[in-house]
Amino acid sequence: MIRISSSEKTRLRRALLNWFAANARKMPWRNTRDPYRIWLSEVLLQQTRVAAVLPYYRNFLKHFPTLERLAAAPMADILRAWSGLGYYARARNLRAAAREIVARHGGTIPDSREELLRLPGIGPYTASALLSFLYGKSEAVVDGNVIRVLSRLFAVRGDPRTGPIRKEIDRLAGELVPQTGSRQFNLAMMDLGSTVCKPKQPGCGSCPLENRCRARRQRLQEVIPEIRRDRRKVRVHQLAAVLRRGGRVFLTRRPDEGLLGGMWELPGCDGGEEKGCAVRLARVLSRRWGVAVRTGAVLTTAEHSITYRKITIHAVRATIPPGVRLPGGRWVGPLARSRVPVSTATRKILRALELGTGKKG
Ligand code: ADE
Repeated sequence: MIRISSSEKTRLRRALLNWFAANARKMPWRNTRDPYRIWLSEVLLQQTRVAAVLPYYRNFLKHFPTLERLAAAPMADILRAWSGLGYYARARNLRAAAREIVARHGGTIPDSREELLRLPGIGPYTASALLSFLYGKSEAVVDGNVIRVLSRLFAVRGDPRTGPIRKEIDRLAGELVPQTGSRQFNLAMMDLGSTVCKPKQPGCGSCPLENRCRARRQRLQEVIPEIRRDRRKVRVHQLAAVLRRGGRVFLTRRPDEGLLGGMWELPGCDGGEEKGCAVRLARVLSRRWGVAVRTGAVLTTAEHSITYRKITIHAVRATIPPGVRLPGGRWVGPLARSRVPVSTATRKILRALELGTGKKG
């Protein structure tokens, strides 16, 4: 167990906060006291970079300016505002949590860890962030940046993301976070991690903690954190049928549960590399719909990554007999298409086929 003397804690906090006073990154959710906005920003920032979040944050608030408005909004509208950002379960959980907050907490985000953890989409990290940022509680907020700062500062060996080493990092964070002013402290740690104590070539020369950093003293700042990178990307191929009728294209809606729940996409199935895969797609769809589907050439392919999957989508021309009705989907024209939520992958394909919506993402 690593020990930090109380005088060392005081010096670390002081150096960090002085640095933050001059170097804080500016973000719109840091200039507000509105709990709803702060919560929204934390959910948007889960697994997503600040630069990617900014336009979504603004647009989302334009459509859903209050927690009550969000709670009352149709899911399709919320998914449309989320469209392109990924991890769509976040959007469902956000509305479900907003509804619970309205129904059970009188519209106020709860101030206890226990109650927060009962809300959909709020895990230990977000609970700590809300307790610190909204209510000033002495809670450490430990994201990937903070893990890196702490593992270097205390020269923690081994992979700090897992098991007992992660526990030790959390314990150190808990010791360092001050009784009052935890928000500033937590934001300062995040900013130090993302702007100075970077994963590669850390900027020790401009670090306020350089003299106190145990990894730096041992010249291990480029070795620590010793993160195991064993999660190789898995390649996945998918087939998607492009059925056109006039200026419209046929899209189906994914089930609410699971990956990309509720998003609209071209109908398809796994596969795409093997010989005769277009014929297989025709067979799968014919069986699914009870309609004679024929497929032709591959029109375009799109690459897209979701978590550890690297997906190649092969879009194949498809036809059905004239006048036949297809179940379980919609013929969507360019205008209407912009009103159905589609994932980034689907948008890429529609754009490549010049069926695009014109919307960025
Ligand atoms: N500021 C407030 N919350 C943040 C977060 N989760 N990441 C980066 N900056 C933030």
